[in-house]
Amino acid sequence: MHIDILSAVPRLLDSWFNESILQRAQQKGLAEVQVHDLRDWSTDKHRRLDDYPFGGGAGMVMTIEPIHRAITELRSKREVDEVIYMSPDGEMLGQGLANQLSLKGNLIILCGHYKGVDERVREHLITREVSIGDYVLSGGELAAAVLSDAVIRLLPGVLGDETSALSDSFQDGLVAPPDYTRPAEYQGWKIPDVLLSGHQANIDAWRHQQAVERTRLRRPELLDRSERDPGATDR
Ligand code: ADE
Repeated sequence: MHIDILSAVPRLLDSWFNESILQRAQQKGLAEVQVHDLRDWSTDKHRRLDDYPFGGGAGMVMTIEPIHRAITELRSKREVDEVIYMSPDGEMLGQGLANQLSLKGNLIILCGHYKGVDERVREHLITREVSIGDYVLSGGELAAAVLSDAVIRLLPGVLGDETSALSDSFQDGLVAPPDYTRPAEYQGWKIPDVLLSGHQANIDAWRHQQAVERTRLRRPELLDRSERDPGATDR
């Protein structure tokens, strides 16, 4: 998978993609993330990316030209599946959307800044808008990092254990069951006996029951949703 991220502040994302799992994914050739400085496509002599809104009002708006030039150039290099604009009024990111996007080959992610982008960017250049939650960040970079992380960790081979992404919370519409590791007893706090039983079927049944119980307590709306619409978690 190839992800191009377009940003007015690319430095914000450097450390994110050069560490840990995301770095390993890139070293293994499973994902390639390129963070681009939108100013490289600005024709303004001061490399500005924003201007005053028509009709007046507070805040600056990102202009269409550098964004158009950037997207056109990137599209000429490879077949792009989605051009995603990170925006608080976009489609809410959930595990289903992350799963969907992990099946794509090439993504462009545009990070907004200031008041946002000229609406014509959204009308003509963007194929999808994604929000990471009902709150407003000062730029789309953190949101782009969240989206890329959620997608890249799903690519086969990125996580050490092939099955571990499948056992994540939300993959089956349930939150994950609890995990324990050594020691089996710490300061008198014991782990559930079943985990030491060696009986895999019982362990699996216990984990499932714990996941259902936790979901009921912590995120009951997930159960309501899957009871109403069993395929909901795939979307
Ligand atoms: N940009 C600013 N806030 C955002 C959010 N909540 N989700 C996605 N992009 C954003």
